[in-house]
Amino acid sequence: MESNKRPETMERITTKALADAFIAEQIAAIRAQVGEKKVLLALSGGVDSSVCAALISRAVGKNLTCVHVNHGLLRKGEPEQVCEVFRKQFDVNLVYVDAVDRFLDKLAGVSEPEQKRKVIGAEFIRVFEEEARKLSEIEFLAQGTIYPDILESGPVKAHHNVGGLPDDLKFELVEPIKFLYKDEVRVVGSALGLPDAMVNRQPFPGPGLGVRCVGAITRDRLEAVRESDAILREEFAKNGLAGKVWQYFTIVPDFKSTGITDGKRTYEWPVVIRAINTRDAVTATVENVPFELLEHITDRITHEVRGVNRVLFDLTPKPSATIEWE
Ligand code: XMP
Repeated sequence: MESNKRPETMERITTKALADAFIAEQIAAIRAQVGEKKVLLALSGGVDSSVCAALISRAVGKNLTCVHVNHGLLRKGEPEQVCEVFRKQFDVNLVYVDAVDRFLDKLAGVSEPEQKRKVIGAEFIRVFEEEARKLSEIEFLAQGTIYPDILESGPVKAHHNVGGLPDDLKFELVEPIKFLYKDEVRVVGSALGLPDAMVNRQPFPGPGLGVRCVGAITRDRLEAVRESDAILREEFAKNGLAGKVWQYFTIVPDFKSTGITDGKRTYEWPVVIRAINTRDAVTATVENVPFELLEHITDRITHEVRGVNRVLFDLTPKPSATIEWE
């Protein structure tokens, strides 16, 4: 059986030269494993699956097919960026699946956090399975597994795996970055020419914005999460916080409060801002975001996001709170 232990002789990849050497080595290894056969990959647009896709496409070209499932819980602009980068820059065979209605219909009325995760995970497997069955002669399944996933050292992907593909769709795995730590994956991603915004993305949970639209997801409240998240990201980038803060996002809870707009009374949702720093996601502290910036973001969110009349800043470290709200 293939070892799941990082070779002791493997040097830590910290420079472009080391990344280039790793890329050349992996291209040869992938070609030796796969030959002229076809490879399938679920491309979420996260760092790991993106680096994996770029690397395998360098090795086998059009024999790689990527499937990008838009489950409606992605951040603003993400599906477009995935299609743009992988179709235009890497010339990859990319199947884009618009599964937004399917997921949101399945999620309607589901309010319990773990149940939501199960619905999203199970539906994802179903969509991916359908796409895999449409393609012929696939023998390999590529996965962006990285070393911390194997070591299970952190909770970041711990809730991730919800079952798997059925037995008749068991492909041989291709896992070219399984011995890399996250920082090494980023160095390799840059060396492969992936855009900075993709390589240096903050962690994003598998169930996406779904766990930030607290309680049962509705389309209008999900849109409020997506739009407020886009404003927060834009302002953090403009103000030098994007590369500094480990994870930052907005949450829209499932309750309303009173407000006033143009002299009229409103009854709308609040948006909660979360900005935290951590080493391993096991404990976390809150970023000291400048008050003036918070005021500016509040002004933008209350004016630009439909259905929102109030903005709150979450001051709670982990513990006692978790990083996400669900
Ligand atoms: P919590 O909320 O448990 O989050 O303090 C710790 C880290 O894990 C991420 N997270 C998830 N990642 N699937 C994932 O892939 C999930 O279901 C999930 N839930 C939380 C969270 O964003 C944070 O970085």
